[in-house]
Amino acid sequence: MIKLNVLADEIQAGPQLSVVVPTFNEATNIAELVNRLDVILQGIRWEVIFVDDNSPDYTARIARALAQKDRRIRVIHRVGRRGLSTACIEGMLASSAPYLAIMDGDLQHDEKLLPQMYHTLESKENLDIVVGSRYVDGGGLGDWNQGRAQISRFATWISRSVIKSNLKDPMSGFFMLRREVITDSVDKLSGIGFKILLDIFASVSRDLQFKEIGYTFGVRHSGESKLDSLVAWEYIMLLLDKTIGQYIPVRFIPFALVGCVGVAVHMSALWVTFIAFGTSFIMGQIVATLVAMTINFFLNNFLTYRDLRLRGWGLLTGWLSFSLACSIGAISNVGISTYLFQENTTGWFSSALAGIIIGAVWNYAVTSVYTWNQKS
Ligand code: GDD
Ligand code: MN
Repeated sequence: MIKLNVLADEIQAGPQLSVVVPTFNEATNIAELVNRLDVILQGIRWEVIFVDDNSPDYTARIARALAQKDRRIRVIHRVGRRGLSTACIEGMLASSAPYLAIMDGDLQHDEKLLPQMYHTLESKENLDIVVGSRYVDGGGLGDWNQGRAQISRFATWISRSVIKSNLKDPMSGFFMLRREVITDSVDKLSGIGFKILLDIFASVSRDLQFKEIGYTFGVRHSGESKLDSLVAWEYIMLLLDKTIGQYIPVRFIPFALVGCVGVAVHMSALWVTFIAFGTSFIMGQIVATLVAMTINFFLNNFLTYRDLRLRGWGLLTGWLSFSLACSIGAISNVGISTYLFQENTTGWFSSALAGIIIGAVWNYAVTSVYTWNQKS
């Protein structure tokens, strides 16, 4: 036992339930959310953890002001990073509670489900997770238009490729689980994109015991959705990570695709300078290389490293380190392919291909560490 220097009744035990709420620009919603939690979670020792990615509307500051009046409110303020799933993971890891809930900050998830989720988990020992579901009895999509509903159903359908459980709504962002589920899966979670529930189901080594409770997806209280076309892209990356991610780092795929675009850009720029403007070949090559590297840098910053995107001065130093790394990559590419070709071990095509692959892997490895500072 720890020795305490205050009266025992001044001390309160830790929470039984942590509600983890990822936020980005939800300043106008969080006070209302806290009010509703306070009403609905009477009788449960709860806390709410807002995990905010440095929202420009100062969500974190407002959450801290609320927390000063109520210690059940906590804030994790992340800087230089974006991501709904990683925010949820970090929120859950920052809690000590035996039960953890994930919920949006815009009041689209029906908080009235929380007590039922909690009591269900508490009373059924072998149950791991309770999911707020739009696709079981009592559930619905609310006022979603046909298009979005269809996309959601399609995404649900392809999620079957990475999870075995017959979960009706693996795309739900509203659920409650036992801490052990996270403890068991945290090393394997991808943390890519929006779909943290799917990530959890695809990462645990056993079959999770789950129950789905229907609810109707509500309308956003205020503010705007962060769902954009890149969310679909991130979803594909999550599926890839869960399938081939154990063999190659999943970011290498977009990096290589961007590299292919770079080749096309290079050839076009070379054509413009060398053919159309009639510069010398070497001059055309220098210009084309610079243009291709620059475009590759920005594309990778936008797509491959969306969550670690460089901004401001970071763009300049990032571009410099990227160009430097790729120059060395290009030199080794030419050196290796020339060597292979001259040794006559392989033909021209496979010599060149080997050079390209080695150069690409080098570029990826070096820029992932030096340009985007990715920790392993
Ligand atoms: N920390 C952090 N970082 N939070 C984020 C980020 C981010 O990069 N992007 C979004 N959020 C927060 C939002 O502030 C909100 O609280 C919650 O994540 C959901 O974002 P919305 O932009 O409101 O998403 P939605 O309403 O389109 O999607 C919801 O519905 C899906 C059902 O299909 C989400 O709940 C999804 O998780 C859910 O799957
Ligand atoms: Mn929303």
